[in-house]
Amino acid sequence: MIPLIDTKLEEYAIAHSRGVSPLLQELQIYTYEHCDNPQMVTGPLEAGFLRMLVQLIGARRVLEIGLFTGYSALAMAEALPAGGELISCEIDREHCAIANSFIERSPHGDKIHIMLGPALETLDTITGRFDLVFLDADKENYLQYYEKTLSLLRPGGLLVADNTLWSGRVLDPRKDTDHALVAFNRHVQRDDRVENILLTVRDGMMLVRKRT
Ligand SMILES: C[S@@+](CC[C@H](N)C(=O)[O-])C[C@H]1O[C@@H](n2cnc3c(N)ncnc32)[C@H](O)[C@@H]1O
Repeated sequence: MIPLIDTKLEEYAIAHSRGVSPLLQELQIYTYEHCDNPQMVTGPLEAGFLRMLVQLIGARRVLEIGLFTGYSALAMAEALPAGGELISCEIDREHCAIANSFIERSPHGDKIHIMLGPALETLDTITGRFDLVFLDADKENYLQYYEKTLSLLRPGGLLVADNTLWSGRVLDPRKDTDHALVAFNRHVQRDDRVENILLTVRDGMMLVRKRT
């Protein structure tokens, strides 16, 4: 991932933000030492922002697409009130196993429910309303995830889509994934059902508020 802002500035921002829990720090180190593509971990700045959003909107139910080793799920679960719930969809059994080994150690782990399988299929089985949705899985399916999860989002709820600047490749799309993100951003921008803002946090975070 190409940093959108100067690395030193990003480090400064991390140093001047409330840190993540020791368990999350350990999880990030573990992921970098044991997993392929460890940069997929959202990291302290973005996860801290997600945690802040959960608190700001008073979320009780969160839906995540793309668990990986559980970093963003755990960060958001830490901010959920007692009795809150986070459902995370993940296709890779090994990722689920690593995530579970950390989730089991967290006092907030009982709020997290992992659903193993292709998220598009899993989504058809999920019911009820969510306060916040976090899209962070395969980019080619973002549009479909958006349409499916928007209907699960409560009016006034928030959908957050990660990697929407895609290391700047949205400006000069070449590969299928680049085009998928360009199409996703355009679709959201034209959608009258929502208000949106594309933030330059980390790799780009599209915040989408479903109108009431
Ligand atoms: C960018 S990572 C998620 C990072 C995670 N949110 C974090 O903070 O660590 C994307 C994850 O989506 C998963 N994934 C990819 N395609 C998927 C699919 N069709 N259904 C469910 N999960 C999928 C991958 O296995 C990977 O673990």
